[in-house]
Formats: sequence, structure tokens, C-alpha cells
Amino acid sequence: MSITIKSASEIEKMRMAGKLAADVLEMLEPYVVAGITTDELDKICHDYIVDIQQAIPAPLNYHGFPKSICTSINQTVCHGIPSDKKLKQGDIVNIDITVIKDDYHGDTSKMFCIGEVSQHAKRLVKITEEAMYLGIEQVKAGATLGDVGHAIQQHAESNRYSVVRDFCGHGIGKNFHEEPQVLHYGKPNTGITLEAGMIITIEPMINIGKKDVKVLADGWTAVTKDRSLSAQFEHTILVTPTGYEILTLRTEEQSRFE
Ligand code: MF3
Ligand code: CO
Ligand code: CO
Repeated sequence: MSITIKSASEIEKMRMAGKLAADVLEMLEPYVVAGITTDELDKICHDYIVDIQQAIPAPLNYHGFPKSICTSINQTVCHGIPSDKKLKQGDIVNIDITVIKDDYHGDTSKMFCIGEVSQHAKRLVKITEEAMYLGIEQVKAGATLGDVGHAIQQHAESNRYSVVRDFCGHGIGKNFHEEPQVLHYGKPNTGITLEAGMIITIEPMINIGKKDVKVLADGWTAVTKDRSLSAQFEHTILVTPTGYEILTLRTEEQSRFE
């Protein structure tokens, strides 16, 4: 399957799916506190997506994934499986939400800090969010995926962090993961040229230590090999003739664009 250019009606459906995914993260905020288990967060999201949004949690049974959301704590890079483990003060956790509405996917994640977290954790979270935004700001018809990857890599590495290579962003639409692969490193003016109507995710994973990851015996949980902290943010992005539209923007982010 090649890269699809979405039609106007497909873009409308992607806007709705994106908004629902963003709404889940906003709804969840007050629950993400010390003492709650990631299984409890999974159930809150599952029930909200199914009962209130009348949508489908895309991760559930996706290639055998057992839960409705991914919860990746501290040294977990991505694809953490919700469990009966409680969040505790000082943890940083990525919560990744993907919903299917009217056959189309919206995919987004953010970091939550549990109570007071260390200065070095806070700095990692801030730089990772900035790196995602710097990547997003490269997006417009005529720019390349290398431009996006380079902006992210530059920001991470100039802050002495490393960019995970084993996972990447992706095209998205009727399928959860479509072409192209969106690498979070690269060189300007290389790779695929973006065209208006493409929809991709940008979802850098940044480590304090080395870039290497390993997947645990559960077949999903990816952790840093050196057990250093890792952070990730993700948005679903429409390429427009002059720039981009963030389909998963949350209210708390709107002031960035005023
Ligand atoms: N939401 C992840 C992504 O951003 C994919 C999760 S796949 C799952 O692409 F099976 F773990 F849910
Ligand atoms: Co994604
Ligand atoms: Co995701």
C-alpha cells in the first residue's frame, strides 16, 4: 500500500477521530495521580471511548495487544501494558490513546508527571514536547520527512539526549499504521516529499541515556537498555498547502498558536 492522499470527506472524519482521541487525554487528566493503577486508567478510557464517544479503542486486540491504551512509565519507551501496578509520586508516564470513529483513526499521546518529579525528568519531558513541536513546524506541502526528523534529532541531541530508532511515526487513516514511516531523525531535504492531504503522526521517543531499547518477554513493553528515563509525545497531523493542522490538539495547547 502506498501513501494515500485523503479526500475532503476523509479529512472531516479524521478531524472527528483526532478530536475524540484528544478528548480522552483531557478527560483522563484528573485521574492520573499517585495511587491509581494503570489498569484503572485503562478501564476509564475504555468505557469513555465505547460508551460516551461510541468509538473503538484501537489498541485492544491490535496484533494481540491486550488493553485499550498504552501506559509507558519511566524507563518504558512505548507500548507499556496497563497492569495492577500503581503510579507513584515522581513517576513520568506516557499515555497513548488511539480511537477509531467512523472507520478512521486518531492517535495521540502525552506525558503526565505524578506529583513532584525530579528536575532531570522534568527537563526530559519539556525537551521531548519541544522536539515534537519543532518536527510538526516543519510540515507543509513540499517539505520532506528528512526535514521533520532532522528538526527533532537536532533538538534532542543538542540537549545531550538520544532519539529512539526502533519505533517511528506513521501514516494514518482507515488503518492504524500506514505508509510512510516517519523517522524522528534524518537529514534536511531527504526522504519523501510531503503533499497536501497526507496525514501522519509525529511521535518522538527521547532517552536521557543511550538510544537502544529492548522489548520485554511480554512481546510489547519496550524499555531503554540502559534503564534511563524515556519520554514521548504524539500528534496526528494533516499536511496542508501552507503548513499543517494538528488533528489531536488539546485545549491546554491552543495558546501556543495564538
Ligand atoms: N499508539 C501507538 C502508536 O502511536 C501504537 C500502539 S500499538 C499497540 O503508533 F498495539 F500497542 F496498541
Ligand atoms: Co502512532
Ligand atoms: Co500512539
